[in-house]
Amino acid sequence: MRTTERLILRPFQDSDLDAWAALNADPDVMRYVGGPLTRADSDREAAGINRQWEAEHFGFLAIERMSDGVFLGAGGLSREPWTPDTLEVGWRLAREHWGHGYATEAAAHWLAYGFNELGLTRIVSVTDTPNERSIAVMRRLGMTFERTADLEADGERFNATIYSVTAEAFGMI
Ligand SMILES: CC(C)(COP(=O)(O)OP(=O)(O)OC[C@H]1O[C@@H](n2cnc3c(N)ncnc32)[C@H](O)[C@@H]1OP(=O)(O)O)[C@@H](O)C(=O)NCCC(=O)NCCS
Repeated sequence: MRTTERLILRPFQDSDLDAWAALNADPDVMRYVGGPLTRADSDREAAGINRQWEAEHFGFLAIERMSDGVFLGAGGLSREPWTPDTLEVGWRLAREHWGHGYATEAAAHWLAYGFNELGLTRIVSVTDTPNERSIAVMRRLGMTFERTADLEADGERFNATIYSVTAEAFGMI
């Protein structure tokens, strides 16, 4: 278990799965991440996330609010095919928990983890170019625009905006 000022970052528990399925079924949340998921796919994703963390000690973790134990969403580091040389930081919160800085707070932890504990020298973040809220998180984290690129995920092409930050710029060197 990892903590930040307001959050607990930990593997998924069975008690998260209803809220995780609800956010994964919400078209607003899933607009830029492949569209709504069925309950079965949502459960499968949570199990895959836990397996990934156990196997490699990086990946997404569930995000819980410390003050009341409410499940907010998930975030973390992932290895994606378009940036094989480094890890990507990402986030997904239930719609009712947007607007409180939770994604930025969790992601700052993941950047520090990547630089300090995994020894990365650079971390990227990639999103659909129209996903302005995600790009705003990147900027709040101090990441800078690197490039746009036409990428493919699950057989669908999309125009991606890629931000990055180095350990040095993040103040870790
Ligand atoms: C991307 C996503 C995580 C961003 O969520 P968010 O709530 O906008 O981002 P943050 O958690 O950093 O919150 C920032 C907002 O909280 C406000 N805020 C309130 N208290 C704050 C605090 N203590 N610290 C920082 N910001 C705070 C900020 O002013 C900002 O508000 P604004 O958007 O009105 O300017 C969310 O939109 C989401 O889950 N989207 C769907 C999934 C997705 O697309 N993921 C990205 C795939 S690449």
